Amino acid sequence: MKGLLTLKDLETSKIVELIEYAIKLKNGHYVRYPDKKVATLFFENSTRTHYSFQCALMNLGVNVISCDVGRSSVQKGETLYDTVKTFEALGVDGVVIRSSVDEYFKELENINIPIFNGGDGKTNHPTQSLLDLMTIYEEYGHFDGLKCCIIGDIAHSRVAHTNIEIMERLGMKVYISGPAEFNDNCAPFLSIDEALEEMDVIMLLRVQFERLEEGMTLTNEEYHEKYGLTLERVAKMKNNAIIMHPAPVNRGVEIADDVVECEKSRIFKQMTNGVYIRMAVISEAMDGKL
Ligand code: NCD
Repeated sequence: MKGLLTLKDLETSKIVELIEYAIKLKNGHYVRYPDKKVATLFFENSTRTHYSFQCALMNLGVNVISCDVGRSSVQKGETLYDTVKTFEALGVDGVVIRSSVDEYFKELENINIPIFNGGDGKTNHPTQSLLDLMTIYEEYGHFDGLKCCIIGDIAHSRVAHTNIEIMERLGMKVYISGPAEFNDNCAPFLSIDEALEEMDVIMLLRVQFERLEEGMTLTNEEYHEKYGLTLERVAKMKNNAIIMHPAPVNRGVEIADDVVECEKSRIFKQMTNGVYIRMAVISEAMDGKL
């Protein structure tokens, strides 16, 4: 299949190439596709990923069809396959899809236009990982040997699952931390204190309440007290360590209000980088290279 569905299909050299291309675009490299049309189909709520894809498409001069899925024929029982096949038949050159269904793209094997995965269930979020990696690469200039701890609701996080696989492949050492109820053993577990003192990257995750069948056993206040990143905890981090978060952030739960924009935080830089990474991915696909 064309486009970008999962990072598992990409060679590490291709990942570094995409990051370097995104940095070139950030530095002003000009490329335009005014004859192309791409549709965005978001079946789950999204602010950053949805509008970052739209900004990326606009920056490339691509025409955007922002599909209102709530008013589409999906509501009449049409399958995802038939919906995407329809866009292909209409002459659309690619689709961006976010869905709560793990690996929804497996039913799209007979689609011939590029599909850009904006996140599926708890499994993949390839462009989020690429923008995270770009942010780390801009900071350190390499990946090998860097230590990252992902703290929070690991079990329900496509961001964590995607990042752990690719970061390990790039030579990073990845750990997880946070409440035991969210530990799915996908990486070695550290206490919060160990994580703060030893990591180059602290990556926070929101508790994904919409995926919790029975809610969280802790209150938000208890979570903040035990695991929340406060300025006091930030003071224990290594001098040049950075704080990342895919957002949306829940201020006062996993992160204190005054940490969101503190000197170590790269949270808003991640969002900016997301536009350039998505431009790189779309551009490669429009050129038939992805
Ligand atoms: C994440 C997602 O949707 O997976 N957000 C994002 O894409 N920036 C994380 C989340 O929702 O907590």
